[in-house]
Amino acid sequence: MGYKKILVTSALPYANGHIHLGHIAGAYLPADIYVRYQRLRGQKVLYIGGSDEYGVPITLTALKEGTTPKDVIDRYHNANAEAFRRLGISYDIYGRTSWDLHIDTTQSFFTNLYNKQYIFPREMELWYSTKTNRFLPDRYVKGQCPRCGYEDANGDECEKCGAQYSAKELINPRANIPGDNSTPVLKTSLHWFLNLPKFQEKLTQWLESHPEWRSNVRGIAWSWIEDLRPRCITRDTDWGVPIPLDHPDAMNKRIYVWFDAPIGYVTNTRQWGIDKYNDPYAWEDWWKNPDTRLIHFIGKDNVPFHAVIFPAMLMGQDNFILADNVVGNEYLNIFNRRTGKSEKGSKSRGNMIRVSWAIDKLGTNSIRYYICSIMPESKDSDFDWNEFRNHYNGELCDIVGNFVHRTLTMIMKNFDGKVPSPGIMDEADNAMLSAISTAKEGVAESIETFRFRLALERWVDLARKANVYFDSKQPWATRKTDIERTGTTLYVCAQVVKALAILMNPFIPDGSLELCSIINYEIKQQGPEGGDDIWEEITKPLHAGFSLNPPKVLFPKMEAEFIEQIAEEHEKGLAS
Ligand code: 2FM
Ligand code: ZN
Repeated sequence: MGYKKILVTSALPYANGHIHLGHIAGAYLPADIYVRYQRLRGQKVLYIGGSDEYGVPITLTALKEGTTPKDVIDRYHNANAEAFRRLGISYDIYGRTSWDLHIDTTQSFFTNLYNKQYIFPREMELWYSTKTNRFLPDRYVKGQCPRCGYEDANGDECEKCGAQYSAKELINPRANIPGDNSTPVLKTSLHWFLNLPKFQEKLTQWLESHPEWRSNVRGIAWSWIEDLRPRCITRDTDWGVPIPLDHPDAMNKRIYVWFDAPIGYVTNTRQWGIDKYNDPYAWEDWWKNPDTRLIHFIGKDNVPFHAVIFPAMLMGQDNFILADNVVGNEYLNIFNRRTGKSEKGSKSRGNMIRVSWAIDKLGTNSIRYYICSIMPESKDSDFDWNEFRNHYNGELCDIVGNFVHRTLTMIMKNFDGKVPSPGIMDEADNAMLSAISTAKEGVAESIETFRFRLALERWVDLARKANVYFDSKQPWATRKTDIERTGTTLYVCAQVVKALAILMNPFIPDGSLELCSIINYEIKQQGPEGGDDIWEEITKPLHAGFSLNPPKVLFPKMEAEFIEQIAEEHEKGLAS
């Protein structure tokens, strides 16, 4: 579409807990697959991630643990950065919203909006604890939802029914701080609001120009745009970015975490440019150049912030680009084998699967494969241990791994480890070779349209077809009667192996690189500066005589007992 650069972001997870597989299925694996694919295409692509380190989730964790917010964010930032690294999530930078640079970026956004009169002050009545003499923002107060009656609703939104309301509507409020569950009183406090209705027209035009977005994202965005209200963007807390106003009421308040968090994408791009080029302005070419295509990958709960509020904040700056797509996934639930029902992942249930735990037990290849195969793209899906094993053993081991192994073994034994010379090609040979082109186009098309499950299926399907071809050609039998025929078959199979190795790269990078090293093919690592279109090499043949190495088992099978044991640990709450 004429874009010259692609800027990809994944939601910044709160640094108040370990990332788990639900997160991965939502905002990280799809983004990473997309980014790796675009790098293979030689596109200039920059992938930004990081920790979200302000806000009530962090301070509440610190209070519960009896420690400081700084201690909480340091611990979880490092743990999560490491978990992402091990899973192969290939950020160009994994930044932090607690960086000083982020104060500058956030305050500049705020000041610009303020100077253009998109931000205004207003007094509000908020819950105040007379026991601990403090206001109770967000989750510091709980009570009954005024809409659905849920008993554990937050100060201004209900997790159960999704309702948003003003704090004073909350029924039977109680403070929600360790050591304080007193009944609060309403007290007046001055706060600053982002005047979202002023952006209605521009937001409408922008959203109308993107009919190609997923319907779940557009649905949520439209429902917000049709009912825009000013949003409070400050809080009574000392943990956050200071409000850049010379006003007595601004002193002991901070900017709301959902205002600064998406700006973290910009901060982290700034830091990346400084680290890489020592250039404090390098970021501008990614955020202010209309030739850049910005794509946000998020979970469903983040849609309003990325498809309405942050875009409005960008519209109120000077010359920032807007997202070209907001790719929001639904939820990954957990299938409970005891009840036979699917349940939401939750901290209190202890049923979430921590990324680092899963990698320790299962390695990255199987996790990336399974999560992609059940990615909740258009509806919620379930993590289910039986399915995990079926998908991994049945597809990755039995279809892909098996085809690669039998091809390479026969080439080793019968052709001295060299790609054989092909003889005359028949219809089946040609059909197999053209299936490589079809897979190349099909996988590309589905990744480009953010259908990662389909892309993965198309990759496996090539291996499935190749097994059928192999069986029909019976090279193990023809080698005794017609070695030229056998050579042709294995020549064709070698081309499929190479294609599978490159096609695999975005989904299962470690497996791909291992296979590449076996077939002596090097995938050049490319980054934000772009490079060659390596994808095109999928259909370039490995020449006759080219030396291959002996095969290894790329994807070892997992026994039922092994998975059973892991599933039981998970069910005991040891995975979270
Ligand atoms: O939902 C969350 O976990 C938020 N921390 C996501 C923030 S995304 C972006 F705005 F930084
Ligand atoms: Zn409710």
